Amino acid sequence: MRRNIALVGFMGTGKSSVGKVLAKKTGRKLVDIDREIEVAEKRKIAEIFAQDGEPRFRALEKEAIARASSGGNAVITTGGGAVTDPANLEALKAGGVVVALWATPETIHRRVKDSKARPLLNVADVPGEIRRLLESRRPFYEKADHHFHTDGRTASQVAGMILEKLRDLA
Ligand code: S3P
Repeated sequence: MRRNIALVGFMGTGKSSVGKVLAKKTGRKLVDIDREIEVAEKRKIAEIFAQDGEPRFRALEKEAIARASSGGNAVITTGGGAVTDPANLEALKAGGVVVALWATPETIHRRVKDSKARPLLNVADVPGEIRRLLESRRPFYEKADHHFHTDGRTASQVAGMILEKLRDLA
């Protein structure tokens, strides 16, 4: 069974779009953790946050990550808060390689500003919140096995760079 490739990183760093390209290029199945949760719960992430609160979302996220990590041959894309729980990072590492995607706060803001799907950015000062949250999460993302900057790059370019680095896994 081939090892998984897991993508972690802040909201708006391109995990979903890079994940799609990676899955296609490597013939792995794409497992998008947020999407798995939405399908299982039959409701949107924003609704889970609003109706049951963030702790419930984190519990569902943890279950979905444990499940996805134990299978193989997948590209797993995670939500931006997933690896702030060390057990999630551990599960992802046990099942494969963990790749962090990065972008500057300005790029992130540009990519997420028109989306209503991210409850944590439903605040008055979005650029300030992005900077604050990114700094507080940086130490967690830094624990990934490999790191790639996505500013000014297409999903396809980033996927190509990742595959070059992970040749043995491709
Ligand atoms: C979150 C990021 C979101 C989603 C949820 C919480 C976070 O995923 O999991 O809204 O804590 O950063 P994306 O990183 O795909 O936006």
